[in-house]
Amino acid sequence: MPWPRSQLFEIGDLSWCPSWLHQHEQFTLTKLWTLKFPPWGRESLATKACEVFKEHMQDLSSYTVLDICAGSGGPTPVLEFELNRELEAEGEEPVQFILTDIDPHIEAWQQVCKKQKNISYIETPVDARAVPRLGNRKECRIFNICFHHFSDGDAAGILKSAVESADSFM
Ligand SMILES: C[S@@+](CC[C@H](N)C(=O)[O-])C[C@H]1O[C@@H](n2cnc3c(N)ncnc32)[C@H](O)[C@@H]1O
Repeated sequence: MPWPRSQLFEIGDLSWCPSWLHQHEQFTLTKLWTLKFPPWGRESLATKACEVFKEHMQDLSSYTVLDICAGSGGPTPVLEFELNRELEAEGEEPVQFILTDIDPHIEAWQQVCKKQKNISYIETPVDARAVPRLGNRKECRIFNICFHHFSDGDAAGILKSAVESADSFM
């Protein structure tokens, strides 16, 4: 680009932002994933994300999907429900999901995991810039609406790490 990159700040990233406000923001974003808003089409954004999975991923049952900037869940509860419903109908093993965030929203994640046994979470902060490889299953990292938090250098490092140590990313 011929002009310098400009980046808006998100209130949750600011050091003075109280955690209740950041959590409220995370919760609102999660709600937006399931909103059906006619100009965007008949389906919610989370349902559209399921279609992307189905179109591009093979052998979903062998994967753990790591949501590395999960907020209060984003599209993951819908992904888990929709994808595993189909896998179950086909007699396949369920795909597993893990929620992580630099600012874990434990209360929201507990609610999600209570209802959906194929979703778990890491309760300590995980920085997307240094994600450990988890377990032996194939790993897919998902980055739902989070790249605006990162500098160009960090974003490049996060993608490099996903290419080198995960099996796929979206
Ligand atoms: C815009 S929210 C998106 C939340 C969720 N993915 C969704 O789609 O609703 C971005 C999230 O990224 C998290 N985040 C910001 N910087 C991060 C980092 N370096 N490592 C991990 N998470 C980070 C924030 O705490 C926030 O929950």
